[in-house]
Amino acid sequence: MTESVLSTPRSLGSISGLLQVVSLLSLVLLLLKAAQLYLKRQRLLKAAQQFPSPPSHWFYGHSREFKKEQELQLTLKWVKKFPCACPRWLWGTNVIFLLYDPDYMKVILGRSDPKADEAYKFLAPWIGYGLLLLNGQPWFEHRRMLTPAFHYDILKPYVGTMADSVQMMLDKWEGLISQNPHLEIFEHISLMTLDTIMKCAFSYQGSVQTDRHSKFYIQAIEDLKNLFFSRVRNVFHQNDIIYRLAPEGCRNVHVCQLAHEHTDRVIRLRKAQLQKEGELEKVRQKRHLDFLDILLFSRMENGSSLSDKDLRAEVDTFMFEGHDTTASGISWILYALASHPEHQQRCREEIQSLLGDGASITWDHLDQMPYTTMCIKEALRLYPPIPGIGRELSKPITFPDGRSLPKGAIVVLFLYGLHHNPKVWPNPEVFDPFRFAPYATRHSHAFLPFSAGSRNCIGKQFAMNEMKVAVALTLLRFELAPDPSRVPVPSSQIVLKSQNGIYVSLKKLP
Ligand code: HEM
Repeated sequence: MTESVLSTPRSLGSISGLLQVVSLLSLVLLLLKAAQLYLKRQRLLKAAQQFPSPPSHWFYGHSREFKKEQELQLTLKWVKKFPCACPRWLWGTNVIFLLYDPDYMKVILGRSDPKADEAYKFLAPWIGYGLLLLNGQPWFEHRRMLTPAFHYDILKPYVGTMADSVQMMLDKWEGLISQNPHLEIFEHISLMTLDTIMKCAFSYQGSVQTDRHSKFYIQAIEDLKNLFFSRVRNVFHQNDIIYRLAPEGCRNVHVCQLAHEHTDRVIRLRKAQLQKEGELEKVRQKRHLDFLDILLFSRMENGSSLSDKDLRAEVDTFMFEGHDTTASGISWILYALASHPEHQQRCREEIQSLLGDGASITWDHLDQMPYTTMCIKEALRLYPPIPGIGRELSKPITFPDGRSLPKGAIVVLFLYGLHHNPKVWPNPEVFDPFRFAPYATRHSHAFLPFSAGSRNCIGKQFAMNEMKVAVALTLLRFELAPDPSRVPVPSSQIVLKSQNGIYVSLKKLP
């Protein structure tokens, strides 16, 4: 007893000593971190000096300006003012370099810098590490495994499936416009493109356009994209632990679960189908497998099959990439044609002379609509479905004009800026399909809706086919006009959307 009383001050002393050491260590660590951030900022400031930009606050960066004005519209002002590239300070030491010059694009896309993990990693809880997010050797192996899913033998019969999905949507539109000719088209087109990708890539046999589950999935995707964008721009939500405790983080977990329920169901259904008699044999006899079957039957280099986690990641990646991008593409193309009746009519005449009533559209028709293809490309220029893509420089880079960036810098290949850059495209806001006439010339990296180089879009051909089918069949049935009371405001939400929807007025053709 006596001893314990006597020992208390000693143990208290040792505890306070320990606390002192811990506080000292924390202080040193804090100072080290501050010094590291300071040096990083100085290094980035030095790099940024070569690239003029509007003045920014040392902590808030440019975020206050972006609160005052629409993001894309403000950034386009920078594109016009600052040549080739411009730093955008997010907060503190965080800066991204926006690039919008074809020579700059060419240099970056010719290298193999990894995706900018700082932003892309926030997509991982939703789409996992599939082809879009993977880097290095695992990416290479997955790309090689999945490339045969886009062989033209596979893509050919998809044209009929695409046409069926489009016709179903157009039938629905006929009913709807008898009450109101103005239609918000993005949501309908999203369901249609989801229907198509589910049937083509995932051997789904139901109809997504009428079933309730799919509407939930589309809504979940919308929420996840908004949550992603809000997180990327919130300094306090960068840390995983803090984010998970915040209401937005909890919502993110919940909505991810909803999206995964949809993809899990698709995998389960296909596995069940394959259990049916004869089904497995049918698949084995095919020369080329559909996307999901490639995944289910895959054998990696070492002979093991794809893990469940990797399989889910690919299904989530393709389910999202395979429908949301094309939905954006088709919606904006129809809007562009609605706003330019003279080009719309010329496309219609071309399609009528090719397809007659359009009862059947096949693979062979798709490269016989040159004028329509020119209009599609011009719409993809004005409204690229993916407005920007990010890379983290794995080594320093020097651009053709002599300016350079250090290793570790984050660059955004700002495709929307490139396509609206007046130095690359004279009168960039004018819709002029003749920019894509066979005789027209342009820089190899002036038009990049599908990116370029080894990490270009694997679904490019699929997407072009789907857009052609959708545009051709829509123009055969309807005359399109814009809704002057609701002019869409382009906004970047991973894919290009409109803040106030994309409204088009439809009139059934006789
Ligand atoms: C109009 C429609 C589409 C556009 C504009 C588009 C655009 C792009 C772009 C710009 C990239 C590069 C992304 C980056 O570097 O971060 C990309 C990659 C990708 N796209 Fe598309 N895409 C479209 C349709 C599709 C479709 C239909 C699919 C699947 C069926 C698809 C699957 C992918 C995948 C998996 C990647 C990652 C490829 C890799 O890194 O190896 N895309 N796409």
